[in-house]
Amino acid sequence: MCGIMGYIGERAAVPVLLDGLRRLEYRGYDSAGVAVVEDGAIAVRKSAGKLSQLVKVVEQIPLSGDIGIGHTRWATHGHPSDENAHPHADCRERVVVIHNGIIENFLSLKEELLARGHRFRSDTDTEVLAHLIEEAYRGDLAAAVEQAVAQASGAYALVVLSADEPDKIVAVRRISPLIVGLGQNEILLASDIPALLPHTRDVIVIEDGELAVLTRGGVAISRIGGGPVDRLPMRVTWDAAAAEKGGFAHFMLKEIHEQPRALQETMMGRLPSDEEIALDGVALGPESARRLSKVWIVACGTAYHAALVGRTLLEQLARIPTEVDLGSEFRYRSPLVSGGALAVAVSQSGETADTLAAAREARARGARALAVVNVVGSTLAREAEDVLYTRAGPEIAVCSTKAYLTQLAALAMLATALGQARGTIAPPRVSALIQGLRALPAKAQAVLSLEPAIIALAERLQRTEDAFFIGRGLDYPLAMEGSLKLKEISYVHSEALAAGELKHGTLALVVPGVVVVALGTQPALIEKTVSNVQQVGARGAEVVGVATESTAPVLAPHVDELITVPAIDPLLAPVLAAIPLQLLAYHMARLRGHDVDQPRNLAKSVTVE
Ligand code: G6P
Repeated sequence: MCGIMGYIGERAAVPVLLDGLRRLEYRGYDSAGVAVVEDGAIAVRKSAGKLSQLVKVVEQIPLSGDIGIGHTRWATHGHPSDENAHPHADCRERVVVIHNGIIENFLSLKEELLARGHRFRSDTDTEVLAHLIEEAYRGDLAAAVEQAVAQASGAYALVVLSADEPDKIVAVRRISPLIVGLGQNEILLASDIPALLPHTRDVIVIEDGELAVLTRGGVAISRIGGGPVDRLPMRVTWDAAAAEKGGFAHFMLKEIHEQPRALQETMMGRLPSDEEIALDGVALGPESARRLSKVWIVACGTAYHAALVGRTLLEQLARIPTEVDLGSEFRYRSPLVSGGALAVAVSQSGETADTLAAAREARARGARALAVVNVVGSTLAREAEDVLYTRAGPEIAVCSTKAYLTQLAALAMLATALGQARGTIAPPRVSALIQGLRALPAKAQAVLSLEPAIIALAERLQRTEDAFFIGRGLDYPLAMEGSLKLKEISYVHSEALAAGELKHGTLALVVPGVVVVALGTQPALIEKTVSNVQQVGARGAEVVGVATESTAPVLAPHVDELITVPAIDPLLAPVLAAIPLQLLAYHMARLRGHDVDQPRNLAKSVTVE
């Protein structure tokens, strides 16, 4: 985890670094630090706590210098403290390093370094790299970095600054992301593209196994242990303002309200007529689609909940047996993946370590990989044969919203396209689905107008400590997503259940005052869900129902409160019904006084296993 920033140019480095770290805080925010070269020596400021703490430290003891590095941390080794905050220095304080990732063999390296007389100041895995570079240094920083990382196993984006070569930043990448930004008389470095956008739109993605040397004259990239790499910069077309809050109180609320537009972007150019789906980036042709024997979907967190919806869509529309696995579990059950299978990896960031590992495992076992991913140029996107970008734009809030809705829309397009190619859905059904997809942005906009009613509901429920989300069919993964939203930002204990499972245990926890959110968007299942609603109602639960205009008349008599979204094809209903659940979680968290965009203990993109 962690966010990385580097600067070399003509301006004061520290304000640029702090601004970049602010944009990268979603990657971790338990401590932060910066280092610059000042009067020929390395000067470091760091602090436990959020970035604002570091800003105070820098205000109290300012730093000057036009070359520097900065880091915002999400702890993996060593608790969040001043000492464990990056940058970390060697014994002589001539070299400092910042790092995103995990050095898996750091304990044995540390023992060896201690035996050779090195003094450690932190409990981190990162610090071994500073000492390894110190040992390897013979007047060539890049060579020393290369030698140091050759001894380390694991994942790293490592950035190094040395007082002995004060006009240079050396960066190296294995697995964790690293992007170079080319500005006017300045070069920048960051963990992601939005952090660079205030300064430049010309970026170079450092690839796995590459080393970059940033100097005032430019950037030189080479393969570790190999020769120079010639790579042209790419021009980013994102709007810098898209990465700002745009007048909303929190990024999460802004991102919820961006959903109609995000859905529109997801579908733009991909539904050219009522008969046709054109998925750019997906090279899998009709013939290969017909031959597919099985689909495996791998994902984590919210993307996993989208994947569960995707399974039903693929099975119902394309009639392909589909399994869904958590990225963190897939490898450990020796999955029976064979050639002719498609592995769909769903991820907002495209950097989630478990999802990447699962997709690699599936490919190694002969599957073709298709990434449903938001971040352009992310590791997952680059490794997969096919890429279906969700085009949600930058998602900053840790709690995922627009990424989820666009994943659902992308998976619906994929399932429809595969069904069409395989001849498993009749042309009128294809047209109906395409029309249903096209209607989503306007209907999502209509759902957003329910916000005042949801605020009133959140005000009433804000002191709730236990909640259960129930649903059947597609409403079950929707229940899982609603429950996750609520717990991760409002810290209300919450569980999701297949409604039919209630009677096998959890019903014992339903006592007067417990909140049950009953999802009832599926006409074929609504009667059965109503039976379960009656079971919890009879035990005194306060029941909030979510229905579509089609199912509302059946659910309404049995719930204390009903949220109704527009009528929609049942297969697309989760797209609309998720929105009130997001708004409920948001307003509950806000009313309970929590840090909505940066919930405790979590991070936006989990790049460790
Ligand atoms: C973290 C985020 C979640 C996200 C999950 C998977 O836990 O907080 O919002 O769903 O990672 O991330 P990905 O980038 O792979 O979708």
